This record gives sequence, C-alpha cells and structure tokens, in this order.
Amino acid sequence: TRVRVSDDALALACGADEVAAAFRRQGCTVERVSSWGMHWLEPLVDIGGDGFGPVEVADVPEILRGDGAKAIGRIADHPFLTRQQRLTFARAGKTRPLDLGDYAANGGWAGLKRAGAIGAQASIDEVTVSGLRGRGGAGFPAGRKWQTVADAPAGPKYIVCNADEGDSATFADRMLMEGDPFCLIEGMAIAALATGADKGFVYVRSEYPHAFAKLKAVVALAAPLIAPFTIEVRLGAGAYVCGEETSLLNSLEGKRGEVRAKPPLPALEGLFGCPTVVNNVLTLAAVPHILSEGGDAYASLEPGRSRGTVAIQLAGNIRHGGLFECGFGVTLRELVEEIGGGTASGRPVRAVQVGGPLGAYFPPEMFDTPFDYETFAARDGLIGHGGVCVFDDTVDMARMARFAFDFCAAESCGKCTPCRIGAVRGRETIDRLLAGEDAAAQIELVTDLCETMKFGSLCALGGFTPFPVMSALSHFPEDFAGRGRGG
Ligand code: NAI
Ligand code: SF4
Repeated sequence: TRVRVSDDALALACGADEVAAAFRRQGCTVERVSSWGMHWLEPLVDIGGDGFGPVEVADVPEILRGDGAKAIGRIADHPFLTRQQRLTFARAGKTRPLDLGDYAANGGWAGLKRAGAIGAQASIDEVTVSGLRGRGGAGFPAGRKWQTVADAPAGPKYIVCNADEGDSATFADRMLMEGDPFCLIEGMAIAALATGADKGFVYVRSEYPHAFAKLKAVVALAAPLIAPFTIEVRLGAGAYVCGEETSLLNSLEGKRGEVRAKPPLPALEGLFGCPTVVNNVLTLAAVPHILSEGGDAYASLEPGRSRGTVAIQLAGNIRHGGLFECGFGVTLRELVEEIGGGTASGRPVRAVQVGGPLGAYFPPEMFDTPFDYETFAARDGLIGHGGVCVFDDTVDMARMARFAFDFCAAESCGKCTPCRIGAVRGRETIDRLLAGEDAAAQIELVTDLCETMKFGSLCALGGFTPFPVMSALSHFPEDFAGRGRGG
C-alpha cells in the first residue's frame, strides 16, 4: 500500500514521523509530501486519495484493515478545500517537496519557460496586468516595483526574498517554502529575468530550520535550470524588525538589523547600494502561475483593487485552523465562524486580530468586514500578511493592549524616539491603568501617545503599534474603563 504523510513542520510537531514509521513497519511504501494545510487533521494520511486524520500510531493497523477509523473521505472533496481557490498552493498536499520530477509534472517551470520566451519587459507587463500586490503586508504593486528595478541603470541588481515571516498566526511562507520550495525558486528566477538581476538571496528566519534545509537542497538541485542566475539562502538574525525590508538588507550585509530611512527606495539603492527587488515569499510564489496562465486570468479573479488570491491563515483559538487560499472579499464571519468552525475552546468568539501583532482587533459586530486591503484600512486595520488570530470571551483586551506595547518595546530597533521610548511609556501607562489608577487619565495619555507613534515612527513597527492598542480601546472600552477609580 502506498501511503502519503506530510513532512511539514506542523505535521512533524503532531507526530507525522512516528505515524510514517508505523506504516513502514506494516510494509507500506510511505511518501513524504507537502501539507494540505488542514491543521486540525494533522498528521493527515492519504491512501489513494482517501484521507485519515488526525492519525496516531495506534490507529495504523485499523486504518490498514479498512474499518473506517479516522476516515474523513476523499481529501480533495473536503469542504475546507472545495471552498478554496488554490493557485499559489495548487500543489499543496500533492507533491514531494524536494522532487524535481513531481514539480515538473505538476506545472512546474512553465512560468519561467514562458518568461524566457516573451522576454523581460513583457514579463513585467504580465505581472503589472495581473494586479499582484506585495503579499508581505504593504500591498505595493509588484509590477511597478520590478519596473523601477528594471529601469535603474545597468550594474549589479539583486532579488531578495523576504522569508522572515514574523507575524503571529502566520505560516503561509513557511508552508510554501517547506511544501513547494521550487515554486519560490521559479518565482525568483522570473523576477531576475524580468529585471536583469544576476543574484538572489532568501532571508529565512532562524526559527524555520526545516524551510532553511529544504531551500538549501532545492537551490542546489535547481541551479542548472536557473543559471546564470544564482541564489543564496541566508538564516535570519532572530529579530522581528528584520522583516522590515531595509533592516533585512542591513542584516544581509552583515550589519545590525536597524531600519534605514526611505528614500532611497531599495528598488533604486538596496542591497550593497544596488537596485534590489525585495518581495515576500508569497509575492514571488504567485509569479510562476501568473506567467504561465497570463496576468489577465489572475486579475479577472477579483474586480476590485485587490486582485488574485490571498493566502489567509486561520490560527489562535479556532477549531479548524489552517491555510485558506481564496479570492479577496471573503468576510471575517465566513472565515471565523463557517470555515474555521468557531473557537477550539467552544466558548463564544470575542475578538480576532488580523495582520499580526500590530494588526487591529475586530469584535464580532465588525465581522461583516470583507478581506481586502482598502476596506481594512478604512476600518483602521490591516490585512498584513493574512494572519487571523481568534480569541474567545476569556480574553482581557487591556492586557492585549499592554502586550502590543510590550512587543514593540522588545522588538524596537531603537533608531527613532517615538517607538523606542513610546513603547515603554505606553506599557507603563497601561500598567498604571491595570493597577487601578484613574482610567480616564491613562486612556487620554495612551491615545495621545498612539498619535505620536503613528505619525512620528520611522517604520511600521512603531507606526502600527497603535492599531492593536487603539482598536482594543475603541471596540472593547469596558475592559479599560471599569478598572480605575476614575473610570
Ligand atoms: P511601504 O509602504 O513603505 O513599502 C511597500 C513596498 O513598496 C516597499 O518594498 C517599498 O520599498 C516599495 N515601494 C514604495 N514606493 C515605491 C516606488 N515608487 N517604486 C518602487 N518600490 C516602491 O511598507 P513597508 O514599511 O515596507 O512594509 C510595511 C508592511 O509590512 C505593513 O503593511 C505590515 O503589514 C507588513 N509587515 C509584515 C510582516 C510579515 O511577517 N510578513 C511583519 C511586519 C510587518
Ligand atoms: Fe526602529 Fe521602531 Fe523606529 Fe522602526 S519605528 S525604525 S523599529 S525604532
């Protein structure tokens, strides 16, 4: 019997290696594949397309006897998957991550081949037409960034992949790098061809050892296919702020991971002062599909300004957590209640934080908010890298506001005052509120401080800390007001 078990880090953490070994002991041929992204079912076992999960070693003999133990039916027909539109994650669950043959047999290299055939400018045009925007969080049009680099004076140019995925509740970059690493390599090779770069770097956070090892392996395997372009994989320095592009570039150059002022834009003066494309993993991984199928097809998925698909990551206190790739416009209610099945604890949902530790908290009254860049911005939030973190009714939002300041204080690079000092003062102010001092006075101070941080910080770390703080204050005032004598 041929059995497929994922070797994704989440599956490994749930015992996938032990389950794979148990099937081998029973004489089965075990293939290690990428994860489908249905986290609550891991380790998920695939036998001829039928799924079983979450599987424990003790379940193995029963599964092989075929008595229905842990059976979930046809994997591809699972409602969590049929509701999705998987383009970037089209191969998830289906291929062996390090197998060049699997990649080529499942649409791999078609995008690079077409880019080679149509040439540099036409390739940029395809990306521009597709409407693809930076998936790291800021949503800047990828085609425009590439054009800036392509138009810069000739000389060394670089493609830098930002794989320093640091947001809470995010794992899509990791899943892509572990599950379909050739796709990222192909995306980088297309970016290089389009902009005239001859060298690329992947900056992987040090907390992702599996992704790092797999990328090293595929870079060696793919070298002849992407030559003369070369790629080097580097391990991050363990700081959240190194996910900010200029700080990342400093870190790559061997300097302190401190933010640089913009301008100059990295597109003009980036790595070692040369024109540099800095794109997130998911932005680059969307490119092979756009080139092979055409930018128009990608753009037609959504009529608004948020085009193509978005990889939403459902995590925190949620029953059915995992990777959900779909067109923009899906609402928070659909994501949390229908697709995610509510909380894992079974208690009512009280808040979701979207966009990482610096994203806004939304109460259930705002769950009609559709997932797209502009609507979230209009409601004082951000979709960021697409992480959705769910909290039940035991959450204390004043403590979450404190956590935002605490996080900013710990991760600040120290370059500018509003962030370096403001985060510490903000934490102290919330502490006074928690200790029962006049709440109204503390709230006024925090509000004033957030204004300063929002408009006076050099980068998004200090600039976005007000999002979680102020959303907690405005949507959950009862967690703050009642605490102090004056409240
Ligand atoms: P930004 O708005 O300054 O820039 C966006 C991108 O567009 C940058 O790469 C910038 O260099 C480029 N750009 C801007 N104008 C350009 C032009 N005329 N030509 C060419 N390129 C141009 O945003 P920033 O500060 O780089 O990123 C902030 C975002 O990062 C936030 O939205 C946040 O959600 C996200 N973020 C993501 C994290 C993750 O784990 N993925 C962690 C923390 C923040
Ligand atoms: Fe550094 Fe914070 Fe200023 Fe960003 S906002 S440059 S992290 S001190």
